[in-house]
This record gives sequence, structure tokens and C-alpha cells, in this order.
Amino acid sequence: MGASIRDVADAAGVSPTTVSHVLSGNRPVSPALTARVKAAMLQLGYAPMRSARNLALGRTQLIGLLVPDISNAFFAELTKGVERVASGQEYNVVIGNTGFDRDRGLMHLEMIRSRAVDGVIYSAGSPFTDSEIARAIGGLPLVLVDEEVPGSTAPILVSDNRDGGRLAAEHLLALGHHNALLLTATANLLSSQHRIEGFLGAWQRVSGSSATTADGGFTADGGQAATRAHIDQFLDGTRTAIFAANDEMALGALRELRAHGLAVPGQVSVMGFDDIPSARNTVPGLTTVHQDVAALGERAASVLMTILSTGERPAESRVTLPVQLVVRESTGVANQRADDAAPDQDAPPDRAGSTSSRARARITEGVVHA
Ligand code: RIB
Repeated sequence: MGASIRDVADAAGVSPTTVSHVLSGNRPVSPALTARVKAAMLQLGYAPMRSARNLALGRTQLIGLLVPDISNAFFAELTKGVERVASGQEYNVVIGNTGFDRDRGLMHLEMIRSRAVDGVIYSAGSPFTDSEIARAIGGLPLVLVDEEVPGSTAPILVSDNRDGGRLAAEHLLALGHHNALLLTATANLLSSQHRIEGFLGAWQRVSGSSATTADGGFTADGGQAATRAHIDQFLDGTRTAIFAANDEMALGALRELRAHGLAVPGQVSVMGFDDIPSARNTVPGLTTVHQDVAALGERAASVLMTILSTGERPAESRVTLPVQLVVRESTGVANQRADDAAPDQDAPPDRAGSTSSRARARITEGVVHA
């Protein structure tokens, strides 16, 4: 059997309590006594059990990560980023999936309140207010990622959602689209709101452009249903573009357009936001706004690790990461109606048989093609 705390205490000529204090660092122990205790540990090959050491330190080496939809690959990538950094610091990650549901969210916050974790990374959107979260988790360190919570002063890492919306609008405008359907998340999610605001800020600067918003609940099924509700305008050609505030909804929109025999991008251009793996795997590949989701997860975990190890939040703890337009095949030049289109005789037909790969090349300068 290995040496015990009592063996170490006897060998060092101190009490077991002093050995515990050296292990936990919770109480000051003189350098001389500390050195004696450490020498005795070395001599006896004493290895404190992790759980015992954590008990002494009053910590669990666990962090909680709350996400709203674990089936969305965005949150799988976010989790991988968090896990990569946390495991490097010997922390395990406990995941709570709220499903955008208050009761399930509350259940996870209850678990946190019971101190089953040392700190929390919260990315579950805002079915809760700042004060509800603060009340639920007590004094535990909290880092927000991906979704802002109104009024919170906690450290936060988000993508530049407004700029992403602007990039999407400028891309569609440059392709000649003027009438778009915007698929949003449920109203209280700020990421979606900011993407739509950024989009409309650019879109409405061009006269004659119009846009309608529809709630797609940030899911593929929701995006499909919202597209179905507006399908007539796509069928009669009065509306030619869809910007979805996340890729899942865009994938649902593609499914619905396909079910009605509408060509993408020949008749309708579709854009998403996130750049999840299915965006490049679907046919046609989805034009989208890329978020560096791995960096969001890694940096959120680093901020939390710093707080846990130093008790201080790092100087740079409210961070906005840049986003990037990724042009694939789901967007193309607007399909002008026969009565107002002046055919460009020189232009080779693109996949949709409309116009100009030259125009397409021009508008995609400076963006990522993938
Ligand atoms: O796809 C899920 C969405 O929820 C992502 O866009 C992410 O940014 C979050 O807001």
C-alpha cells in the first residue's frame, strides 16, 4: 500500500493537518515546513489521489458547458475547442443541452448551483436574464461564448455577427438580388438579431430592395417550414434570395426549394451563417459566413482556466472575432424575369443558364472560395 498523509506527517515531523495545508495551499505554511513536507513526500513516493487532492482544494476539476442544441455541428465544434484547452489543464467538461428550453436550462443551472463544477461556459442563448444566471450559479466563475446575455458584464467571446450580416447582404446585392427572405432564430437570440440588423443595414441602403423576416427557430426543420410559408414568391420569381441566420436553417430551405423543383442558384440563391461541415458537403455547396468556432471554444476555455487558476479575469476578456464570407455554389446572379432582363450575349452561361461567371468572379474578389 502507498504512503498515507499520516506517514508523510510522521516522516516530516509535522501534523497531518499541516500536510493537508501544504497540499491544498489553502492556509499559509512556512517555507521551512513546506520544504520538509515535500521532501518527505518525495522520499516516501507519496502520490495524492486526484479526488482527495481536489477535495482538499475544494474543487472538482470539472467545468460546465451549456449549449442550446447539441445536434447542431456548430456546438460540436465549439465543444471540441473547449475540451481541447480544458483537458490540457486536467479539467473535464460536463455538457448540458438546453434545447432552447427554459426548464431544461434551469435543471442544468441547478446542477451548477450544487457546485458540481468549478466554473461555467454558457452558450445557451438568452432564455435567461443576466440576473437569473447569476442567481443560479452563485459566485462561480462564468464565461459567455457565442451568445450575448443582455446586461451581463461576464467575460465574453462572440463572432462579429453584424459584420457577417453585412457581408451576406453585400454579396447578394452584388449578384443583383433585391428581394430576400431572412430566416431568423427565435426573437430573443442576440446572435440572430445582430446578423439580421447587419444584413438590413447594408440591404436597405440600396433603393428598391426589400426583405421579409420569418422565424426558423435556428433548426433545419424550422428553416424549411419558414421557406414553405413563403414559397409562392419564389415560384413566381418575385423573390430570389434567402439569407438564413444559421446554416441549419439554410439547409432546411434548400430542402424545401428542391421539393418544389426550384433551382439553386438558378432561381433562388441561398446563404447561411456558421460554415458547419455540411455547408461544404451539401449539393450545391452552401455559401455562408464562416465563424472560427474552434477559436471561440478554445479562447472561452482559456479565459475560464485563467480565472480558475488566478482568480482574476484576463485583461482581454470581451472579444469579438472576425468572420469571413465563403462563396460556394448556392448563390448566383439573380434570375431576372424575361420581361426585364437584357441578355448579355457575350457571357457564357453559368450552371443556372443565366449570366455571367465574370460578374460572379468580380463580386467574389477578396473572399474565400471553398
Ligand atoms: O447554428 C447555431 C447558431 O447559434 C450559431 O450561428 C451560433 O453562432 C449560435 O448563435
